[in-house]
Amino acid sequence: MTASHETTTATASLVTAETLRDEIAAALTAARDRTAALTDCVDETDLIRQHSPLMSPLVWDLAHIANQEELWLLRDVGGLDPMHPEIDPLYNAFEHPRSERPTLPLLPPGEARSYAAEVRGRVLDVLERTSFSGRRLVTGGFAFGMIVQHEQQHDETMLITHQLRKGAPVLTAPPPAPAPADAISLPAEVLVPGGPFTMGTSTEPWALDNERPAHAVTVPAFFIDTTPVTNAAYQAFIAAGGYDDPRFWTPEGWDHRQRAGVTAPMTWRRDGGQWLRTAFGVTEPVAPAEPVLHVSWYEADAYARWAGRRLPTEPEWEKAARFDPVTGLSRRFPWGDDAPTAERANLGQAHLRPAPAGAYPEGAAPCGARQLIGDVWEWTASDLVPYPGFEAWPYPEYSEVFFGPEYKVLRGGSFAVSPAVGRATFRNWDYPIRRQIFAGFRTARSAPTDAGGPPAARSGLTVSR
Ligand code: AVJ
Ligand code: FE
Repeated sequence: MTASHETTTATASLVTAETLRDEIAAALTAARDRTAALTDCVDETDLIRQHSPLMSPLVWDLAHIANQEELWLLRDVGGLDPMHPEIDPLYNAFEHPRSERPTLPLLPPGEARSYAAEVRGRVLDVLERTSFSGRRLVTGGFAFGMIVQHEQQHDETMLITHQLRKGAPVLTAPPPAPAPADAISLPAEVLVPGGPFTMGTSTEPWALDNERPAHAVTVPAFFIDTTPVTNAAYQAFIAAGGYDDPRFWTPEGWDHRQRAGVTAPMTWRRDGGQWLRTAFGVTEPVAPAEPVLHVSWYEADAYARWAGRRLPTEPEWEKAARFDPVTGLSRRFPWGDDAPTAERANLGQAHLRPAPAGAYPEGAAPCGARQLIGDVWEWTASDLVPYPGFEAWPYPEYSEVFFGPEYKVLRGGSFAVSPAVGRATFRNWDYPIRRQIFAGFRTARSAPTDAGGPPAARSGLTVSR
C-alpha cells in the first residue's frame, strides 16, 4: 500500500502562493494572539517564577518561541544574520533542562516581548518574498507550518504551567463545551474491522517527520470505547480499590504508585462524600460525564486492566480515527478531510475543559467513535518508535532523539491543542509517570476471532462505565 491510500491530496500545491501566504500569516497571528493572552494575563513576577519544576518559567517559553522562529524562518529560510547569537544557548531546550531554566540569565519580560515582536515583523517580510517551491524546507510552506505548530505546542505547554500555578484565576472562563444530546443511546464500544490500513502520511503538507511516511499496517479487528473514559467511570475504579490492588498495575506502575503516593487524578481532592477538582485556580465538584484528565499512563493502564480491557495500540487508535471501510482510504480527520470546526472538535482552548463524553457527533469517525480529536490527549499502549522509512527532518531533535521505550505515545489532542496541530496523524509522547499534561484515555479489546459473525459489541451508558 502506498500514499495513494490516503484521501489527502497535496492541497498546498493546489492553492496559489498568495492564498498560502495569507493562510500562513493568519496562522502565525493566531498563534501569537494566543501566546500574548497566556503571557499578558499575569504580572512580571509570575512570568519569571517557576510554577513547577516540571515546567519552564513562562518568560522562557516566550523567548524560546521567538528564538526558534528566528533560527528557522529568519536565518535558514530568510538567510538573515543572527539578531542576538549570544542568547541562543539559553533557549536551547537540550542545553538546559526545565528544572534549571529559572537560574539562567533569561531576557526579562519586556525584552522577551520586543525580541518576539521584532522577529515576527521580519518574518512577515521574509514570508512576502518566499516562493513555496525549490527548497524542500519551504515546499507547501512547511517551515512556516512547523513554526506555527511549535508556537501552538508551547502555548499548550504554557497552559499546563497555568494549570500548575497557584493563586487566583487569571484566565477568563469561556462558555462550556456542548453536551451531547444522544449520550444515553450511544454504544459503550464500537467495532473496527480487521485488515490493512494506511498509517501515517506522505501527503499532509505540514505533517512533522514522525508522522511520515504513509505505510500499510494490518490491524486485526478490535473494539474501542465510543468515548474517552469518564470521571464517573474512573471514580468507580477508585471506589473498587483499583489504586490498592497490584494485580491491575504493571510492576513499574505499581512501584511508582507506591512511591509517589498516587491515589487519584492529579487535580482531584476528596471532600467528605465527593471528589473536587481544581483547574486554573477554580475548585468545583468533579463533573461525572467529562473525560477523566490528568492521569498517568500507569493509571490509564491499570484502569483498563481493572475494566477487563487494555489501552489501544497506536495503530489501533489511528485506524479507529482515520480508516473509512467504504473507500478503504485513510482520512485526515475522523470526520473527513475538511479542517476542524467548532462543531467537529473541542480544540484551541475554546472551552478550557473537555466536553462531556459523547459530544461532537459531527466529529465522529466512520467506526462511530467520538472525540478522537480534541478534548483529551489519549494514552496509547505504544512506545514512541519511528515508522518504517522514517527520516529525521528537518532536525533530529524534534523526534528522533526521543525514539525508544521511555516514552509512550499520546494521540488525538486535548482541548488545548490548536486546530493547526489537531489531526489524526499527529503523534505526541511523554513519560508514563506524567500527569500534568491534558491526558486521558479510552480502552479497547481484541475482537474474538473464533466467532462466526462479527462479535457483539457491549452496550451500556457511556457515563456510567
Ligand atoms: C511533541 C509536545 C512532546 O513539547 O516537548 C516543543 C513539542 N518540540 N518544542 C514538547 C516541542 C520542541 C514536544 N512534544
Ligand atoms: Fe520548543
